[in-house]
Amino acid sequence: MVELNRARAEAALAGLWADGCRFLGTRTAILGGAMSWVSERHLVAAISNAGGFGVIACGAMSPDRLAEEITATRALTDAPFGVNLITMHPDLDHLVRVCLEHEVGHVVLAGGVPAGATIKALRDGGVRTMGFAPALALGKRLVRLGIEALIIEGSEAGGHVGPVSLNVLAQEILPHLRDVPIFVAGGLARGDAILSYLEMGASGAQLGTLFAASQESIAHDNFKTAFLRANARDAVTSVQLDERFPVIPVRGLTNNGTRRFLAHQAEILRRFQEGEVSREDAQLEIEHFWAGSLRRAVIDGDIENGSVMAGQSVGMVKEVKPVTQIINDLVDEAIQSLMQRKAG
Ligand SMILES: Cc1cc2nc3c(=O)[nH]c(=O)nc-3n(C[C@H](O)[C@H](O)[C@H](O)COP(=O)(O)O)c2cc1C
Repeated sequence: MVELNRARAEAALAGLWADGCRFLGTRTAILGGAMSWVSERHLVAAISNAGGFGVIACGAMSPDRLAEEITATRALTDAPFGVNLITMHPDLDHLVRVCLEHEVGHVVLAGGVPAGATIKALRDGGVRTMGFAPALALGKRLVRLGIEALIIEGSEAGGHVGPVSLNVLAQEILPHLRDVPIFVAGGLARGDAILSYLEMGASGAQLGTLFAASQESIAHDNFKTAFLRANARDAVTSVQLDERFPVIPVRGLTNNGTRRFLAHQAEILRRFQEGEVSREDAQLEIEHFWAGSLRRAVIDGDIENGSVMAGQSVGMVKEVKPVTQIINDLVDEAIQSLMQRKAG
Protein backbone atom coordinates (compact mmCIF):
# COMPACT_ATOMS: atom_id res chain seq x y z
CA MET A 1 0.00 0.00 0.00
CA VAL A 2 2.83 2.36 1.00
CA GLU A 3 4.67 1.37 -2.20
CA LEU A 4 1.56 2.07 -4.22
CA ASN A 5 1.12 5.43 -2.54
CA ARG A 6 4.73 6.32 -3.25
CA ALA A 7 4.39 5.35 -6.92
CA ARG A 8 1.26 7.51 -7.20
CA ALA A 9 2.96 10.45 -5.46
CA GLU A 10 6.00 10.13 -7.76
CA ALA A 11 3.71 10.11 -10.78
CA ALA A 12 1.86 13.16 -9.44
CA LEU A 13 5.12 15.08 -8.99
CA ALA A 14 6.33 14.00 -12.44
CA GLY A 15 3.07 15.37 -13.89
CA LEU A 16 3.31 18.66 -12.00
CA TRP A 17 6.78 19.55 -13.29
CA ALA A 18 6.56 17.75 -16.65
CA ASP A 19 6.71 21.01 -18.65
CA GLY A 20 9.77 22.14 -16.72
CA CYS A 21 11.54 18.78 -17.16
CA ARG A 22 10.70 18.73 -20.87
CA PHE A 23 11.98 22.28 -21.34
CA LEU A 24 15.26 21.58 -19.53
CA GLY A 25 15.68 17.97 -20.71
CA THR A 26 16.09 16.76 -17.13
CA ARG A 27 14.71 14.24 -14.63
CA THR A 28 13.81 16.94 -12.08
CA ALA A 29 12.83 20.56 -12.80
CA ILE A 30 15.35 21.90 -10.29
CA LEU A 31 17.68 24.58 -11.60
CA GLY A 32 20.93 25.48 -9.90
CA GLY A 33 20.71 29.26 -10.09
CA ALA A 34 23.85 30.79 -11.57
CA MET A 35 26.08 32.28 -8.86
CA SER A 36 29.11 34.33 -9.87
CA TRP A 37 32.37 32.65 -8.78
CA VAL A 38 30.40 29.67 -7.37
CA SER A 39 28.64 28.22 -10.43
CA GLU A 40 31.67 26.92 -12.29
CA ARG A 41 32.34 23.58 -13.98
CA HIS A 42 32.32 21.39 -10.84
CA LEU A 43 29.09 22.59 -9.27
CA VAL A 44 27.30 22.91 -12.62
CA ALA A 45 28.28 19.39 -13.67
CA ALA A 46 27.37 17.98 -10.24
CA ILE A 47 23.87 19.50 -10.42
CA SER A 48 23.28 18.24 -13.96
CA ASN A 49 24.68 14.79 -13.16
CA ALA A 50 22.29 14.59 -10.20
CA GLY A 51 19.25 15.13 -12.44
CA GLY A 52 18.93 18.89 -11.98
CA PHE A 53 19.96 21.65 -14.37
CA GLY A 54 23.28 23.38 -13.68
CA VAL A 55 23.89 26.87 -15.02
CA ILE A 56 27.35 28.43 -15.51
CA ALA A 57 27.53 31.99 -14.16
CA CYS A 58 29.34 33.97 -16.84
CA GLY A 59 29.35 37.11 -14.65
CA ALA A 60 32.22 39.31 -15.80
CA MET A 61 34.08 36.48 -17.61
CA SER A 62 35.71 37.26 -20.97
CA PRO A 63 34.43 35.33 -24.02
CA ASP A 64 37.56 33.13 -23.98
CA ARG A 65 37.09 32.28 -20.28
CA LEU A 66 33.45 31.41 -20.92
CA ALA A 67 34.41 29.15 -23.83
CA GLU A 68 36.94 27.40 -21.57
CA GLU A 69 34.35 26.92 -18.81
CA ILE A 70 31.75 25.47 -21.21
CA THR A 71 34.28 23.01 -22.61
CA ALA A 72 35.45 22.02 -19.11
CA THR A 73 31.87 21.51 -17.91
CA ARG A 74 31.09 19.33 -20.91
CA ALA A 75 34.08 17.16 -20.00
CA LEU A 76 32.43 16.49 -16.62
CA THR A 77 28.85 15.82 -17.71
CA ASP A 78 26.83 14.52 -20.65
CA ALA A 79 23.65 15.97 -19.13
CA PRO A 80 22.14 19.29 -20.23
CA PHE A 81 23.34 22.51 -18.59
CA GLY A 82 22.97 26.22 -19.34
CA VAL A 83 24.84 29.52 -19.29
CA ASN A 84 23.73 32.67 -17.48
CA LEU A 85 24.69 35.91 -19.27
CA ILE A 86 24.37 39.36 -17.71
CA THR A 87 22.82 41.65 -20.32
CA MET A 88 24.96 44.63 -19.19
CA HIS A 89 28.19 42.77 -20.04
CA PRO A 90 30.13 45.02 -22.48
CA ASP A 91 30.94 41.99 -24.68
CA LEU A 92 27.44 40.47 -24.66
CA ASP A 93 27.28 39.87 -28.44
CA HIS A 94 30.59 38.05 -28.34
CA LEU A 95 29.43 35.92 -25.38
CA VAL A 96 26.28 35.03 -27.34
CA ARG A 97 28.49 33.90 -30.24
CA VAL A 98 30.51 31.73 -27.86
CA CYS A 99 27.30 30.05 -26.65
CA LEU A 100 26.22 29.47 -30.26
CA GLU A 101 29.61 28.12 -31.34
CA HIS A 102 29.68 25.74 -28.38
CA GLU A 103 26.08 24.67 -28.99
CA VAL A 104 24.91 25.56 -25.49
CA GLY A 105 21.33 24.31 -25.12
CA HIS A 106 19.93 27.02 -22.83
CA VAL A 107 20.90 30.61 -22.02
CA VAL A 108 19.50 32.52 -19.04
CA LEU A 109 19.52 36.27 -19.68
CA ALA A 110 19.86 38.16 -16.39
CA GLY A 111 20.31 41.74 -15.24
CA GLY A 112 17.57 43.67 -17.04
CA VAL A 113 15.28 43.28 -20.03
CA PRO A 114 17.31 41.70 -22.85
CA ALA A 115 17.26 43.22 -26.35
CA GLY A 116 15.00 41.52 -28.88
CA ALA A 117 18.07 41.11 -31.14
CA THR A 118 19.91 39.11 -28.44
CA ILE A 119 16.96 36.76 -27.97
CA LYS A 120 16.58 36.37 -31.74
CA ALA A 121 20.28 35.62 -32.27
CA LEU A 122 20.11 32.87 -29.67
CA ARG A 123 16.81 31.42 -30.89
CA ASP A 124 17.92 31.47 -34.53
CA GLY A 125 20.94 29.44 -33.44
CA GLY A 126 18.69 26.87 -31.74
CA VAL A 127 19.37 28.01 -28.14
CA ARG A 128 16.47 28.02 -25.69
CA THR A 129 16.24 31.30 -23.80
CA MET A 130 15.10 32.09 -20.27
CA GLY A 131 14.58 35.47 -18.60
CA PHE A 132 13.62 36.98 -15.24
CA ALA A 133 10.11 38.38 -14.76
CA PRO A 134 10.05 40.85 -11.85
CA ALA A 135 6.38 41.70 -12.60
CA LEU A 136 3.51 40.31 -14.72
CA ALA A 137 3.73 43.02 -17.42
CA LEU A 138 7.46 42.42 -17.85
CA GLY A 139 6.91 38.67 -18.01
CA LYS A 140 4.37 39.12 -20.82
CA ARG A 141 6.77 41.46 -22.62
CA LEU A 142 9.59 38.93 -22.41
CA VAL A 143 7.33 36.22 -23.84
CA ARG A 144 6.37 38.55 -26.72
CA LEU A 145 10.08 39.16 -27.32
CA GLY A 146 10.54 35.39 -27.74
CA ILE A 147 11.77 34.27 -24.32
CA GLU A 148 10.75 30.60 -23.92
CA ALA A 149 10.73 30.25 -20.12
CA LEU A 150 10.65 32.61 -17.15
CA ILE A 151 12.17 32.70 -13.68
CA ILE A 152 10.31 34.61 -10.99
CA GLU A 153 12.76 35.40 -8.23
CA GLY A 154 11.49 36.79 -4.96
CA SER A 155 13.33 39.21 -2.70
CA GLU A 156 14.12 36.30 -0.33
CA ALA A 157 16.84 35.21 -2.78
CA GLY A 158 20.58 35.66 -2.42
CA GLY A 159 22.47 38.12 -4.63
CA HIS A 160 20.89 41.02 -6.54
CA VAL A 161 17.20 41.11 -5.76
CA GLY A 162 14.02 42.96 -6.59
CA PRO A 163 11.68 44.38 -3.97
CA VAL A 164 8.84 41.82 -4.11
CA SER A 165 8.67 38.45 -2.30
CA LEU A 166 8.15 35.16 -4.14
CA ASN A 167 4.87 34.70 -2.27
CA VAL A 168 3.45 37.83 -3.93
CA LEU A 169 5.11 37.40 -7.34
CA ALA A 170 3.73 33.85 -7.56
CA GLN A 171 0.18 35.05 -6.92
CA GLU A 172 0.54 37.96 -9.34
CA ILE A 173 2.12 36.01 -12.16
CA LEU A 174 1.41 32.25 -12.06
CA PRO A 175 -2.38 32.35 -12.59
CA HIS A 176 -2.07 34.84 -15.47
CA LEU A 177 0.87 33.60 -17.51
CA ARG A 178 0.40 30.07 -18.78
CA ASP A 179 2.17 30.32 -22.17
CA VAL A 180 5.67 29.33 -21.03
CA PRO A 181 7.18 27.26 -18.20
CA ILE A 182 7.83 29.38 -15.10
CA PHE A 183 10.47 28.55 -12.50
CA VAL A 184 10.17 29.99 -8.98
CA ALA A 185 13.19 31.17 -6.97
CA GLY A 186 14.07 32.80 -3.69
CA GLY A 187 14.17 31.37 -0.19
CA LEU A 188 13.43 27.78 -1.26
CA ALA A 189 15.01 24.99 0.76
CA ARG A 190 12.32 22.30 1.03
CA GLY A 191 10.55 20.09 -1.51
CA ASP A 192 7.12 20.58 0.06
CA ALA A 193 7.43 24.36 -0.48
CA ILE A 194 8.46 23.77 -4.10
CA LEU A 195 5.46 21.44 -4.47
CA SER A 196 3.07 24.19 -3.35
CA TYR A 197 4.34 26.48 -6.12
CA LEU A 198 4.05 23.66 -8.68
CA GLU A 199 0.43 23.27 -7.64
CA MET A 200 -0.06 27.00 -8.23
CA GLY A 201 1.15 26.56 -11.81
CA ALA A 202 4.94 26.79 -11.64
CA SER A 203 6.89 24.26 -13.73
CA GLY A 204 9.98 24.05 -11.56
CA ALA A 205 12.24 25.85 -9.10
CA GLN A 206 15.63 27.56 -9.05
CA LEU A 207 17.82 27.39 -5.94
CA GLY A 208 21.13 29.08 -5.21
CA THR A 209 21.99 29.23 -1.50
CA LEU A 210 21.59 25.47 -0.86
CA PHE A 211 23.95 24.60 -3.73
CA ALA A 212 26.52 27.24 -2.73
CA ALA A 213 26.91 25.32 0.54
CA SER A 214 27.11 21.88 -1.12
CA GLN A 215 30.12 19.58 -0.98
CA GLU A 216 30.90 20.12 -4.67
CA SER A 217 30.76 23.93 -4.41
CA ILE A 218 34.26 25.42 -4.70
CA ALA A 219 33.32 28.17 -2.23
CA HIS A 220 35.90 28.53 0.55
CA ASP A 221 35.25 26.55 3.77
CA ASN A 222 34.85 29.87 5.64
CA PHE A 223 32.01 30.78 3.24
CA LYS A 224 30.25 27.45 3.84
CA THR A 225 30.77 27.68 7.61
CA ALA A 226 29.20 31.16 7.59
CA PHE A 227 26.17 29.61 5.85
CA LEU A 228 25.93 26.83 8.45
CA ARG A 229 25.98 29.36 11.30
CA ALA A 230 23.60 31.92 9.82
CA ASN A 231 19.90 32.35 10.51
CA ALA A 232 17.40 33.64 7.95
CA ARG A 233 17.45 37.07 9.60
CA ASP A 234 21.21 37.41 9.01
CA ALA A 235 20.70 37.50 5.22
CA VAL A 236 19.70 41.11 4.66
CA THR A 237 19.66 43.46 1.68
CA SER A 238 22.20 46.23 1.35
CA VAL A 239 21.06 49.52 2.86
CA GLN A 240 20.85 52.75 0.86
CA LEU A 241 21.54 55.88 2.92
CA ASP A 242 20.32 58.60 0.59
CA GLU A 243 17.81 58.35 -2.27
CA ARG A 244 19.98 60.62 -4.45
CA PHE A 245 22.59 57.84 -4.48
CA PRO A 246 20.83 54.60 -5.37
CA VAL A 247 22.24 51.32 -4.12
CA ILE A 248 21.22 48.15 -5.97
CA PRO A 249 19.83 45.82 -3.29
CA VAL A 250 22.00 42.73 -2.77
CA ARG A 251 21.06 40.11 -0.19
CA GLY A 252 23.92 38.71 1.87
CA LEU A 253 25.10 38.01 5.39
CA THR A 254 25.77 41.03 7.61
CA ASN A 255 29.48 41.46 8.41
CA ASN A 256 32.19 44.11 8.72
CA GLY A 257 31.79 44.88 5.02
CA THR A 258 28.08 45.70 5.27
CA ARG A 259 28.76 47.90 8.32
CA ARG A 260 31.68 49.67 6.59
CA PHE A 261 29.46 50.21 3.54
CA LEU A 262 27.12 52.36 5.63
CA ALA A 263 30.02 54.40 7.00
CA HIS A 264 31.42 54.69 3.45
CA GLN A 265 28.13 56.07 2.14
CA ALA A 266 27.91 58.53 5.05
CA GLU A 267 31.43 59.77 4.34
CA ILE A 268 30.77 60.18 0.59
CA LEU A 269 27.53 61.99 1.40
CA ARG A 270 29.38 64.39 3.70
CA ARG A 271 31.99 65.10 0.98
CA PHE A 272 29.24 65.65 -1.59
CA GLN A 273 27.34 68.01 0.69
CA GLU A 274 30.51 69.99 1.36
CA GLY A 275 31.15 70.28 -2.38
CA GLU A 276 34.29 68.11 -2.34
CA VAL A 277 32.97 65.57 -4.91
CA SER A 278 30.51 65.82 -7.79
CA ARG A 279 27.30 63.80 -7.74
CA GLU A 280 28.62 61.51 -10.49
CA ASP A 281 31.89 60.81 -8.69
CA ALA A 282 30.06 60.24 -5.41
CA GLN A 283 27.79 57.66 -7.09
CA LEU A 284 30.79 55.92 -8.65
CA GLU A 285 32.62 55.79 -5.32
CA ILE A 286 29.57 54.19 -3.71
CA GLU A 287 29.28 51.64 -6.54
CA HIS A 288 33.00 50.80 -6.41
CA PHE A 289 32.86 49.85 -2.74
CA TRP A 290 31.89 46.24 -3.47
CA ALA A 291 34.15 45.71 -6.52
CA GLY A 292 35.81 42.30 -6.26
CA SER A 293 34.14 41.59 -2.92
CA LEU A 294 32.18 38.46 -3.91
CA ARG A 295 35.39 36.84 -5.08
CA ARG A 296 37.07 37.88 -1.80
CA ALA A 297 34.41 36.00 0.18
CA VAL A 298 33.84 32.99 -2.09
CA ILE A 299 37.41 32.26 -3.21
CA ASP A 300 39.68 33.91 -0.60
CA GLY A 301 37.37 33.10 2.33
CA ASP A 302 37.37 36.66 3.71
CA ILE A 303 33.85 36.49 5.08
CA GLU A 304 34.28 39.58 7.25
CA ASN A 305 35.10 42.06 4.50
CA GLY A 306 33.87 40.30 1.37
CA SER A 307 30.31 40.02 0.09
CA VAL A 308 28.74 36.84 1.51
CA MET A 309 25.72 36.75 -0.80
CA ALA A 310 23.04 34.42 0.59
CA GLY A 311 19.28 34.01 0.47
CA GLN A 312 17.02 33.85 3.51
CA SER A 313 16.99 30.08 2.97
CA VAL A 314 20.49 30.14 4.51
CA GLY A 315 18.86 29.53 7.90
CA MET A 316 17.83 26.07 6.67
CA VAL A 317 21.38 25.07 5.64
CA LYS A 318 22.33 22.69 8.46
CA GLU A 319 25.08 20.62 6.89
CA VAL A 320 27.33 20.56 3.85
CA LYS A 321 25.68 17.90 1.71
CA PRO A 322 26.58 16.41 -1.68
CA VAL A 323 24.48 17.85 -4.52
CA THR A 324 22.84 14.47 -5.18
CA GLN A 325 21.58 14.37 -1.60
CA ILE A 326 20.28 17.95 -1.79
CA ILE A 327 18.27 17.15 -4.92
CA ASN A 328 17.10 13.75 -3.64
CA ASP A 329 15.99 15.31 -0.33
CA LEU A 330 13.99 18.01 -2.15
CA VAL A 331 12.28 15.40 -4.33
CA ASP A 332 11.63 13.17 -1.33
CA GLU A 333 10.07 16.01 0.71
CA ALA A 334 7.70 16.77 -2.17
CA ILE A 335 6.77 13.08 -2.49
CA GLN A 336 6.31 12.60 1.28
CA SER A 337 4.02 15.60 1.34
CA LEU A 338 1.93 14.18 -1.51
CA MET A 339 1.83 10.75 0.14
CA GLN A 340 0.62 12.14 3.46
CA ARG A 341 -2.22 13.89 1.71
CA LYS A 342 -3.19 10.80 -0.25
CA ALA A 343 -3.02 8.71 2.89
CA GLY A 344 -5.26 11.25 4.67
C1 LIG B 1 26.50 33.83 -3.93
C2 LIG B 1 25.40 34.12 -4.96
C3 LIG B 1 25.75 34.66 -6.21
C4 LIG B 1 24.75 34.89 -7.18
N1 LIG B 1 25.12 35.35 -8.43
C5 LIG B 1 24.19 35.45 -9.42
C6 LIG B 1 24.57 35.80 -10.75
O1 LIG B 1 25.74 36.01 -11.05
N2 LIG B 1 23.58 35.88 -11.70
C7 LIG B 1 22.26 35.62 -11.39
O2 LIG B 1 21.42 35.71 -12.31
N3 LIG B 1 21.87 35.30 -10.14
C8 LIG B 1 22.80 35.18 -9.16
N4 LIG B 1 22.42 34.77 -7.90
C9 LIG B 1 21.00 34.35 -7.66
C10 LIG B 1 20.83 32.82 -7.86
O3 LIG B 1 21.01 32.45 -9.21
C11 LIG B 1 19.43 32.32 -7.43
O4 LIG B 1 18.42 32.87 -8.23
C12 LIG B 1 19.15 32.62 -5.99
O5 LIG B 1 20.25 32.24 -5.19
C13 LIG B 1 17.86 31.90 -5.54
O6 LIG B 1 17.54 32.18 -4.22
P1 LIG B 1 18.10 31.33 -2.95
O7 LIG B 1 19.51 31.79 -2.76
O8 LIG B 1 17.24 31.74 -1.80
O9 LIG B 1 18.00 29.89 -3.29
C14 LIG B 1 23.39 34.59 -6.89
C15 LIG B 1 23.06 34.08 -5.61
C16 LIG B 1 24.04 33.84 -4.65
C17 LIG B 1 23.63 33.25 -3.30
